[in-house]
Amino acid sequence: MEQNKGSIHIEELLKELTLEEKAGLLSGADFWHTKAVKRLNIPDVMVTDGPHGLRKQESDPDHLGITESVAAVCFPPAVALACSYDRDLMRTLGEALGDECQAEKVSTLLGPGVNIKRSPLCGRNFEYYSEDPYLAGEMAAEFVNGVQSKNIGTSLKHFAANNQETRRMSISSEVDERTLREIYLSNFETVVKKAQPYTVMCSYNRINGVYSSENDWLLNKVLRDEWGFEGLVVTDWGAVNDRVLGVKAGLDLEMPASSGVRDKEIVKAVNNGTLSMEDVDRSVRRVLKLVETYYNNVVEDATYDKEAHHDLARRIASECAVLLKNDGILPLKEDMEVAFIGEFAKEPRFQGGGSSHINSFKVSNAVDAAKDTYKVTYAKGYSIREDKVDANLVAEAVKAAKEAKVAVVFVGLPDSFESEGYDRTHMNLPNCQNHLVQEILKVQPNTVIVMYNGSPVVLPWANDVKAIIEMYLSGQAVGEATVDLLYGKVNPSGKLAETFPLRVEDNPSYINFPGTSEMVTYSEGIFVGYRYYDKKNLEVRYPFGYGLSYTTFEYSNLTVSSTKIKDTDSVTVTVNVKNTGNVYGKEIVQLYVKDVEASVLRPEKELKGFEKVSLNPGEEKTVSFTLDKRSFAFYNTNIHDWYVESGSYEVLVGKSSKEIVLTQVIEVESTTKIPYVITDSTTIGDVYRLVKDPSPIERLLAMTPLSPASADVEGFNNDMIKKMFDEMPIHSILSFIGFGNIGLEDIDQVIKELNEQIG
Ligand code: BGC
Repeated sequence: MEQNKGSIHIEELLKELTLEEKAGLLSGADFWHTKAVKRLNIPDVMVTDGPHGLRKQESDPDHLGITESVAAVCFPPAVALACSYDRDLMRTLGEALGDECQAEKVSTLLGPGVNIKRSPLCGRNFEYYSEDPYLAGEMAAEFVNGVQSKNIGTSLKHFAANNQETRRMSISSEVDERTLREIYLSNFETVVKKAQPYTVMCSYNRINGVYSSENDWLLNKVLRDEWGFEGLVVTDWGAVNDRVLGVKAGLDLEMPASSGVRDKEIVKAVNNGTLSMEDVDRSVRRVLKLVETYYNNVVEDATYDKEAHHDLARRIASECAVLLKNDGILPLKEDMEVAFIGEFAKEPRFQGGGSSHINSFKVSNAVDAAKDTYKVTYAKGYSIREDKVDANLVAEAVKAAKEAKVAVVFVGLPDSFESEGYDRTHMNLPNCQNHLVQEILKVQPNTVIVMYNGSPVVLPWANDVKAIIEMYLSGQAVGEATVDLLYGKVNPSGKLAETFPLRVEDNPSYINFPGTSEMVTYSEGIFVGYRYYDKKNLEVRYPFGYGLSYTTFEYSNLTVSSTKIKDTDSVTVTVNVKNTGNVYGKEIVQLYVKDVEASVLRPEKELKGFEKVSLNPGEEKTVSFTLDKRSFAFYNTNIHDWYVESGSYEVLVGKSSKEIVLTQVIEVESTTKIPYVITDSTTIGDVYRLVKDPSPIERLLAMTPLSPASADVEGFNNDMIKKMFDEMPIHSILSFIGFGNIGLEDIDQVIKELNEQIG
């Protein structure tokens, strides 16, 4: 196809295109390409999964990662990436992927996926970042900035409230307004505002009954009008219900092709007047813009160095791993006799199944990565193909463990345990693996666990082993990265981006996951992840933000630029961090904000800042954060906006969500007046709290034989009387204490006078 370099004069083309051609441009030509219009020299562009590598299929396309794609580099998926808490690293990864897209002639990489990990059971959690929207948004924004710095588009997905795989194509996520805004939308909002992705991919599911693909509120109002999104909205693959409603709602591009069926629906709707040409043109413009941007910036002779990207994948993997436990056994010494046990040591699980499945050009494993440098033996221990205890394999592994100084047991979730397309039903590792660990522990107290899994698991032997490294799914350089960390070539510096509960039943969504055939109710509200475990003061295996290092860090001198601010001001927070150990290391400094007293339910604390700082032994650095209105705000459903209540807030700096080391109080004054109207349902207590001069209500109360003054009468239960008045709606005065002395007109008059005070 002849490419139309330079501007493709979108407005001119809109005049030339027929209605049929316009409708055609609003769906794919096939699985991965937009349509070309040869007559007008409009070329097609290719889009490809994503997100942590390229799944570019040249033939036999599918959306589940079944058939082969071109050999590429598999970087660590989001589950691991998030644990790095490193924005620069995300940008570097994005840039590398942008280069790969240029080389492979791909215009848009289909990712990142930022959906919140509502339940540890969601089969696709490995592809998502966190249970915390701030962390997910910040990390994904830098990923997008990195890719797009190479003039390659991204597709922020899956918009929105797609937090499970069960019935993902039809289920309705029932979420209240505040929860949606604070937990399930603010992650997307951050990425849109900070990185302006070229495209957003709508989710399959419905939100409160309305499909995302035809949700005018979601796509036009929130995404575009409120957040200022300028790009194109594409369907998740096949996520169309009513195509015409979709165009009206701002759903621009349907992928993949629908054999022209839905294009005809668009044509028909324009012809019969149920869809306007302006709405069609609006979407065509956005498709042409994507095409134009690609061809204006395509690097014709682009290539990339696969080996260099493998090395980058290795570095990234080692920056993401989380050291969960270490009784001093790690790092291993170079000359120690070590037994690597478990099939994952030879055949690691390093990515998840489904549409993000990358055809890695090579994969490293820990045994091969270690064998030339260190004294390691290997025993298979179990099979990853079936969950069955094999007595011979166990006996061989026990022997290897006994003969070594240290046993490193590799455990994790095989492919069949978690994948796109379905959810887990439990949080356990395969039985054969747990059995093996227990048997090894009987003969070898120096047991270290390496974990390859895409989401939290129950760890029945956690108290008995000497050390645990959570590698999650680490991409194709997993073997080298694991060995680098075990032997201390790299000091672990990741921290958990999700909580590890002790048992799945402790998770707040447990009762309502995955819902019924029609809907899933997010009844835990905003209390997702650590927001819930904190509030309940529930013991967990490992808290959000937790992770160890081979060195130690000390925090001091927490300062704030002002202790009294207005909600329109921003405040700078600084803290000193010192490496007090003997080796170079990196620390993730976390900043949480707590609303000390609130009129609505709020979490104990929420993450509002993080920085990763690298320190030589003895070195100290000052880390700085900026807090603004959003850092203190909750979503107020009375004004349908973010709102900061006047009062005290604690700025908490910690090593994890559970280990807060320094605290500082800030007074914040609200500049937003909440319009409030007193009605006859307002309680007497609220009247006292809302108005400066309560005399009108006192006048009314004085007309009754019973009044708050009765609370002081002997024989009455004072507390009960006071509480009764406090919570009594104004209209109840008539029936409870009015005794015929008060008429409706008296009540109306008092309400009028009270409203004059607050109006
Ligand atoms: C997935 C998307 C993916 C698309 C194309 C869908 O099933 O949900 O994340 O980008 O397929 O493969």
